[in-house]
Amino acid sequence: MKKKIAFITGITGQDGSYLAELLLKKKYKVHGLLRRTSVLNIERIQDIINQYEKKGQLNLHYVDLTDTASISNLIIKYRPDEFYNLAAMSHVGISYFTGEATLNINTVASYRIQESILRNHKRCKFYQASSSEMFGSSPPPQNEMTPFNPQSPYGISKVAAFHTTKYFRQAHGLFASNGILFNHESPRRGLNFVTRKITHSLARILSGHEKKIYLGNISTRRDWGHSKDYVIGIWKILQYKKPEDFVISTGQNYSIEDFIKKVFKIVGLNWKKFVSTNNKKFMRPSEVRSLRGDSTKARKLLKWKPKYNLDDLAKDMLMNDLKLYGMSLEHAKKIAKKLSKKK
Ligand code: NAP
Ligand code: GDD
Repeated sequence: MKKKIAFITGITGQDGSYLAELLLKKKYKVHGLLRRTSVLNIERIQDIINQYEKKGQLNLHYVDLTDTASISNLIIKYRPDEFYNLAAMSHVGISYFTGEATLNINTVASYRIQESILRNHKRCKFYQASSSEMFGSSPPPQNEMTPFNPQSPYGISKVAAFHTTKYFRQAHGLFASNGILFNHESPRRGLNFVTRKITHSLARILSGHEKKIYLGNISTRRDWGHSKDYVIGIWKILQYKKPEDFVISTGQNYSIEDFIKKVFKIVGLNWKKFVSTNNKKFMRPSEVRSLRGDSTKARKLLKWKPKYNLDDLAKDMLMNDLKLYGMSLEHAKKIAKKLSKKK
């Protein structure tokens, strides 16, 4: 049987790297679309490059998402079966400073890709990485029927891309679906998202590289899952018999403070002595106070459900960061004991 061909934008990111691994294991031919950077940024996909590139199962292409021809040429040449659009300026806090660029990459590029699919290869299925940030100030639980009330340029850009996807589906008959994913993390999470900042900084404190973690508002609540579980949801959305929009979430939410407590408890350290909160630099002009997703639809129709809970996730992330600094959990606990006595 002919191997399925998938395109992934954002393959160098957290989700892109896990999704590529999943599809390669399923025998897809994967084409990763990446941007040129002055320092090569392929850390998260180095293993799959080693394993699959020479065999021709993984191909990487430089594209610029502001350049229609660079996308269209690849679609015309390789005629993908599935197109996963994961590339984005994905940091909500930074989007307050780079609003225009955020809209350009997160919204206009999505429009550009879908228009190119429509003109050049209409039977290609399209996945848009939509976000729970779109719900903004709408209170939890949030599901596919909840109104969008975005609170950031990032949220606005994702709402517009959501509607763009619906438009190509409804007006032009594209198989175009939105996955409305709630926060998901992993050892591959970027260092400036709050969960990874906490696990990574704790490893730095224990290894003597840092004294404190400086955070913003720790009372906000998020519904956190594991990226490994969520990329399965992404894939399932495009395998569903028709294009639709799906919420992917755990259904549980916790505050940032709860997450800090969980992580510090793993090594037995009192968090209060090591965390500084309400730092201006990390406060946002408007906040999304509470996200908790109702993913009944995905669980019923896609038979999707997460394996990881927040304790598993916190442990997976912290163990990885301890390892980065050459520490086992036992070693980390011993240092934590000494630090507790010192203060
Ligand atoms: P991520 O780790 O920040 O990865 C983002 C990817 O987009 C990276 O590969 C990045 O490339 C690429 N990218 C950024 N700007 C680009 C540009 N101008 N041109 C080309 N590529 C660009 O994000 P993620 O957590 O994997 O999230 C994947 C997608 O899901 C994003 O669209 C995000 O908005 C959305 N989403 C994420 C979550 C979540 O909690 N993780 C929840 C809902 C929705 P570089 O590696 O070169 O920077
Ligand atoms: N990043 C960060 N850094 N956030 C902090 C900090 C800090 O020092 N201190 C407190 N926070 C709070 C933020 O204000 C926010 O309320 C919460 O921690 C989570 O912040 P992030 O981890 O940056 O994630 P996010 O919820 O803003 O956005 C993520 O989830 C969205 C889905 O809801 C990103 O992955 C988005 O791309 C994604 O769409």
